[in-house]
This record gives sequence, structure tokens and C-alpha cells, in this order.
Amino acid sequence: MTSNPTRRGVLGAGLAAGAAALTGRGAKAQAADPAITNLQPWNQALGDGVDARPYGSPSPHEAHVKRRNVEWLTADPVSSVNFTPLHELDGVITPNGLCFERHHAGIAEVDPARHRLMINGLVDTPLVFTMQDIMRFPRENRMYFLECAANSGMEWRGSQLNGCQFTHGMIHNVLYTGVPLRYLLEEAGVKTNGKWVMPEGADASAMTRSIPIEKAMDDCLVAFKMNGEALRPEQGYPVRLVVPGWEGNMWVKWLRRLEVGDQPWHHREETSKYTDLLEDGSARRFTWVMDAKSVITNPSPQAPITHGRGHTVITGVAWSGRGSIPRVDVTIDGGKTWHQARMSGPSAEKSLHRFYYEFDWDGGPLLLQSRAHDSTGYVQPTKDQLRAFRGENSIYHNNGIQTWYVNEQGVAENVEVS
Ligand code: MTE
Ligand code: CO
Repeated sequence: MTSNPTRRGVLGAGLAAGAAALTGRGAKAQAADPAITNLQPWNQALGDGVDARPYGSPSPHEAHVKRRNVEWLTADPVSSVNFTPLHELDGVITPNGLCFERHHAGIAEVDPARHRLMINGLVDTPLVFTMQDIMRFPRENRMYFLECAANSGMEWRGSQLNGCQFTHGMIHNVLYTGVPLRYLLEEAGVKTNGKWVMPEGADASAMTRSIPIEKAMDDCLVAFKMNGEALRPEQGYPVRLVVPGWEGNMWVKWLRRLEVGDQPWHHREETSKYTDLLEDGSARRFTWVMDAKSVITNPSPQAPITHGRGHTVITGVAWSGRGSIPRVDVTIDGGKTWHQARMSGPSAEKSLHRFYYEFDWDGGPLLLQSRAHDSTGYVQPTKDQLRAFRGENSIYHNNGIQTWYVNEQGVAENVEVS
């Protein structure tokens, strides 16, 4: 490791004495700073009282931190997607209002009192649950990422979108509270020939997918809370399916029905879109697990280096649908030398991990990349390695290594090196 996180100049305390040690972090021995010498408006008047903001929102100075869409990507904003502003976030939790949205028929505004979840098909007793019924089962709290299989899909043929929000922002990471799907299925009693479960949404798209019974009985949740509060309408209020580590498309929102069957159904969605094309033109129908992936979120095209040379913090996120992320490597020279990044924050299975790499920037051009290792030993491939066995015609499941080129001004750009 060339980074030196132990060299801690104490800001303020060391202004005069520690000038040499501090230059790298940009702190100046400057007494006439008007931000210190002048009174500010917030020093001089009383602020809002506790009744002014019954449901809080971010500072107006954070107004640029928002989900964004790419207008030319889809024909209309109803069957569309927007993107999580990964470059504005830190830690591992995605705030509820910033979780990317992917809808096929817009946001369903469901009245929980009139919402029902039905289990039918190959079960001993078909059942209908109200929200209150669901909440009488034992619940669990678990943190998981949801990644759309189309995340980074625009990047298969070469670098295209200029920002990690757009290249990697079809992901969010949330602490869910929900009832294990297994409890509800066991309540209905799955017949021995019940091998598949088909969740269905209550939105106008009535989205369905086929999930093998082993996965349904393993770690799926019927979730009603995200990060402690009720699901947002955008995320499937009042109840959604959580399918840990598997592609986002299966995480049916506004969940209204679970049918048990003896074989997979044919879904418009997965046969037309959520299928991976291979080099020889054939298709891979079932690709459920999201392989290990990572991206540097800062610096990145929407978050240039603005402080000049010297001490610089690189950070990013990594995840794997097969387990946790014990290690991430970072390179600043396009892969000639790799450095093991510092992981910080919770390390949960099938959840986002946060990494940092601190270094002294000499002001020269950089080629930044990160490479995730997951707990199964799998290492994130380069885009060329992926193309070698998946071809260039794919859209889905692009987990290749991302490169940002940073110029002498600190401006970052989406590029590819090979
Ligand atoms: N569920 C329903 N009912 N309708 C939908 O359009 N979109 C799916 C899935 N579940 C969808 C749905 C897709 S493709 C993805 S990637 C995830 O929801 C997105 O979840 P999010 O909007 O919470 O990010
Ligand atoms: Co999706």
C-alpha cells in the first residue's frame, strides 16, 4: 500500500507548526479568511423551530443530489429508469429518496388497506393475506443490493455515458424489514411438485417472473420497510419481493400474487429482454445471479478533483450476488500497478461494500480502475475478458472493470483501456 492513512495532520491545531505535513490536504495557515472573520446570516438570526419540518429533507445546498434519467434511453418516462447518484453518496446505505427507479408501467399508488397478497397454484390451501396478516409473521432485517441486469448495459461496445451515476447507478442498497417468503409459502403448504414460484405485481404492467422454489425457500423476503420506514411508492409500497443477489427484475414491486407451479412460465420480460446474447447469437435464458462488480465513485466524470495536487481520496463501492467482498484493488495507472484498497463499513453478504484508497496526486494524468474480489474467490473481469466469452451483442450482466481517465485539471472522463 502506498497510501498513508496514519499520517494525520490535525486540522486547526497544527496550523503553524504542521504546515509541511498539511500541505497535502490543502489546509492553509490563513487568518484573514472571511468565512472565519465575518458574521454569517446563520449566526445572527433564530432558525426554524421543531414544528417547521415534520418530515425532514436535505439542505437546499444539496439540491443537485438527485436521481437523473437519460432522456434518449427510453421512449417515454413511464416505462423507463432513473439512476442513483452514486458519486454523491458515501457509506453503504442508499437513502430512500435516491434509490434508482425502474418501472414498466409507472409508479402504482396503492392503498395498503385495499392491497392483498394471494398465494395460489400448487399449494394445499390457497391463501389471501392483508398487510396486517403479513405483519403478524416473524420478521427479519437484512441489507441487500438490488442491481438491474441492465446496469452498465450501455457500455458493452465501448465507453458511452459520462458519469458513474449513469454507467453504474441502476443499483441501490437498502436495509429491508420483511417476512421470509418461506413462512408464507409454508403457511399455504407447497405441494411436492411445486418447483417454481411466480410473483406478480399490482401495477399496470402486472410484472411476473419465475423463481425456483429453492431460492424462494432460501433467503427471499416479502418486505414492507426500507431503511426503517415504509417502502416508498417508487420501490413497491406497500410490499415488494426481495430476491437477494439476483437481478433486480425479479424483485417484483407492489407484490399481489405468488403462484406456485411445476415449471417456469414464459414471461414477455425475460424472453425479450432479460436474456443474455452470446457471441454465437444464441441466448442464455436464465442468468439470475449478479456477479462481483465495483466502481470508483470519486473521482468520476460528475465528481472531478477540484483541490489540485496532493492528498487525494479515491472511493467507490463493490458488491457480489454470491457473497461478500473481502478485497478490492485500485490502480491509478491503468492496471500497471494495483494497490489493495481499505474497506470501511459493514461487510454483509449480497450487499454494497465501501472502499477507499488515499494517495498523493502528483498532478499528472490518471487511469483509475477498481477490481472486486468476492468471498467465493471470483475476481471481477476486464471488459475485454467479458467480451471474449459473451460477445459484444449483450446488454445485460456487464460487470467489467470501469476506467476513468483524469487529466491534469482533475477532470474525469469515461474511457476504456486495453
Ligand atoms: N415490479 C413491478 N411490479 N413492476 C416493474 O416495472 N421493475 C423491475 C423490478 N420489479 C418492476 C418490478 C425491474 S426491471 C427492476 S430493475 C427493479 O424492480 C427496480 O426496482 P426499484 O425501482 O426499486 O429500483
Ligand atoms: Co431491471
